[in-house]
Amino acid sequence: MAEELIIENSASRAEKYRSLIPQIEALVTGEPDLVANLSNIAAALKYGMSYYWVGFYLVKTDELVLGPFQGPIACTRIAKGKGVCGTSWVERATQVVANVDEFPGHIACSGDSKSEIVLPAFKNEEVALILDVDSDKLNDFDEVDREYLEKLMRIIEGLL
Ligand code: SME
Repeated sequence: MAEELIIENSASRAEKYRSLIPQIEALVTGEPDLVANLSNIAAALKYGMSYYWVGFYLVKTDELVLGPFQGPIACTRIAKGKGVCGTSWVERATQVVANVDEFPGHIACSGDSKSEIVLPAFKNEEVALILDVDSDKLNDFDEVDREYLEKLMRIIEGLL
């Protein structure tokens, strides 16, 4: 297992993802424990990409429950269909939110979070977990983030 991530600070975001994602794959290869792997993925994204908050919400019956994350403390439970995370679950689709204050029903775990991207991972065609990435800058996520983070979700599905 790699002991530290190698990310070029001056690289573009796409270049950072291209460097980081294979390192994440190496980090989880051979480790069967899901909590251990999600924990390292959250840390790799938070510190590799310098995001404000990165974490997982796990589907447990009819709600999302906070899983491994990096960043300030966060809401522990989110009802199905609520907030950006609950919407991603119900719609089974990535949500890119340029300004969280303009998303109806957004759940503010921190007033410092300004924009976010939320993506689902599937097991047996059902949403099994959600990845939530928050930025303290407005409009910080675009199609580049969607493309590479969706690739990461497919890797995560291989761990489920
Ligand atoms: N903002 C999310 C809740 C999770 S926190 O941002 C960590 C939402 O509206 O679902």
